Formats: sequence, C-alpha cells, structure tokens
Amino acid sequence: MNILGIETSCDETSVAIVEDGVNIRANIIASQADLHARYGGVVPEVASRKHVERMIPTVLTALSTAGLGYRDLDAIAVANRPGLLGALLVGVSTAKSFAYLLKIPLTTVHHIEGHIYSSLLANPDLQTKFPVLILIVSGGHTQIVRMDGHGSYTILGKTRDDAAGEAFDKGARLLGLPYPGGPNISRLAESGNPSAVRFPRAVLGDNLDFSFSGVKTSLRTFVQRDAGSTPSQDVAASYQEAIVDSLVSRMRKAAKETGIRDICVVGGVAANRRLSHEMRTMASKNHLQITIPDPVLCTDNAAMIACAGYFRLQNNVPDNLDFDTYATETLGQAPRR
Ligand code: KG4
Ligand code: ZN
Repeated sequence: MNILGIETSCDETSVAIVEDGVNIRANIIASQADLHARYGGVVPEVASRKHVERMIPTVLTALSTAGLGYRDLDAIAVANRPGLLGALLVGVSTAKSFAYLLKIPLTTVHHIEGHIYSSLLANPDLQTKFPVLILIVSGGHTQIVRMDGHGSYTILGKTRDDAAGEAFDKGARLLGLPYPGGPNISRLAESGNPSAVRFPRAVLGDNLDFSFSGVKTSLRTFVQRDAGSTPSQDVAASYQEAIVDSLVSRMRKAAKETGIRDICVVGGVAANRRLSHEMRTMASKNHLQITIPDPVLCTDNAAMIACAGYFRLQNNVPDNLDFDTYATETLGQAPRR
C-alpha cells in the first residue's frame, strides 16, 4: 500500500511516499529556512506563500523519486494540526484535491503523532514492543508520552513554559546566532567545553515536567555580565548541556517509574548530537533499548506523516473531505468541530 504523505505545518514543504507503513520510497523536504533566516524566525505569511509555490513541484519530485505515477497511490495522509494555519491549509487543500480526484482514502494526522511514528520508521520492530516511552522534543512541544498501542497515548510529563527547541532558538538569538538556532548552537558547541559555565537545571519536584525558561533567563544575564570574555563555543556548549541534562534526567526517571524498557527520542531537537549521545549512554547504563531516528527523520518531514497515516487507516475509517486545520490541539484528542 503506497501512502502519499504531506507536511506543511511550519517552514518545510514536504511530500513522501511510504509503502506498507515503514518503507520510505521518497521523502522530499523543501526547506524554507534560508528565506526566514533574514527575519530571525518563521514569518507565517511568507511560509504559506512559499508552500503554495512549492507544493505541486514537491509532489511531482516525490512521485518521480519513487518511480510511481498518481494511479499507484492508495491513500493520502496529511498533517492538519497543530501548526501555522495558513501553512497547514496549503497541504490540506492539496491532499483533499488529490484524494477527491483519485478517489482514494484520506486521513488526517496530528503533527506530533507524526513525530512519534518517525520512531517506527527508524525501528519497525517497535510495533511489537508496546508500551514504549517517547520523548518528543520539537520547536513547540516537549513531552514524555507513554504509547500503549497505535493511537493510544498518555502524556506523562510536559514543559511548563518553553519547549526544548524554543530554548535552543531563543538561546541562539541571545548568542547572536542566526535562525534556525538549534543546529547553529549545536555546531558552535562542538568545539566548546560543556562544563565551562554552570547553567541552572530546573528542579520541579517529583514529577516528569520540564521548564526551560529559567535556563534561558540565566543565559541572558550571563551574556550581559560576561560581555564576551568567555569563548562563545564554551557558552554554547554549557547552555546545550543544561538542556540536554534536563531531558536525559527526566527520561531516566520516566523509564524507572514506569518500568518501560523501550524508549524513543523524536522531534527536531533529537537531531542534536550531544542529546543523542547522552541519551544512548543513559539507556545503556540502565539496560534500556533506545530508538533515535536519523536527523532527517527527526526534523519535520512527510515520511513520518505517511507512516502515522498508514497505521491510522489500518485502525480507523478515513476522514471525510470536510475537515479543518487547527493551530493548537492536544495529542490523542479528536479535533474540535
Ligand atoms: O520538529 P521540528 O523540526 O519542528 C517542529 O515541529 O517544531 O523541530 C524544530 C526545532 C527547532 O527549535 C530547531 O532549532 C530544533 O528543532 N533543532 C535542533 C537541532 N536541529 C533542529 N535543536 C538542537 N540541535 C539540533 N541539531
Ligand atoms: Zn515538527
């Protein structure tokens, strides 16, 4: 079964074709990062217009990369929530048009559910391992989720303020680094000393929640006081270490408390090399099996949407063509009407 996946929730126009849920035949990602860099962040209207421009060419590139024609598509999966509304509308309108004309089923996918399914693309055996524990670290979300089966999620912990990706992006701005902040901090941090500056790790008591606003504020204060005397790579490495430490320690606690032995780290920040190294070290010390997708599957992509869509279609009827887009939606809940 070939599923065409479409992802346009933020600044990547992505189209993928995935066979039988987990075999990626094409995963085309047209990033707009360079375009938004001059504004220091994503400008929603600029993103929507670029999606309009790139949508159909990206579908055509995905089909030719997979060596398939329209008639070889069996279903369509599209991210319709949460995200920038104008951006989501482009992918959703395209998906509806193709589904209607080709007379094939269409399913909607929650963007974060898509990130969760990137772990199945990386390790299809996880389907036999439920329950699994998943840390989602993206630009807008930081959550620890227990997944008991397809479509069955319990949020065990979440950030009380900024998401981990937001902490990277805001930190990068304070350090004078361009958008996108996460990859730029991590590049600079590679040659830095992570113990040079001790940034605070939030202590939130006996739960699995996160907080990243304190570390960001302390970076701001540090940068003002230090006035450039500490090498910027040491500051970047130390700041990254504070974020990584909080994520690793909460995941260790979550695994211990739940007794779940299969863990995954997904979302854009999972592309961070220091985070994946520290998570793997923690997993091996605690005899946990860990899955972290390749960086291209951690950041936004349509293959994860097609994968999630495949399993939704196995377990649900397809959506009607009259569905909407939503800026904010909780994972695991049916969208409001
Ligand atoms: O999942 P994603 O691509 O988009 C959202 O759903 O938000 O995540 C984007 C976030 C951004 O905050 C970006 O700075 C961060 O992921 N990111 C990274 C790295 N690559 C992307 N953060 C740290 N290190 C990286 N290598
Ligand atoms: Zn994302």
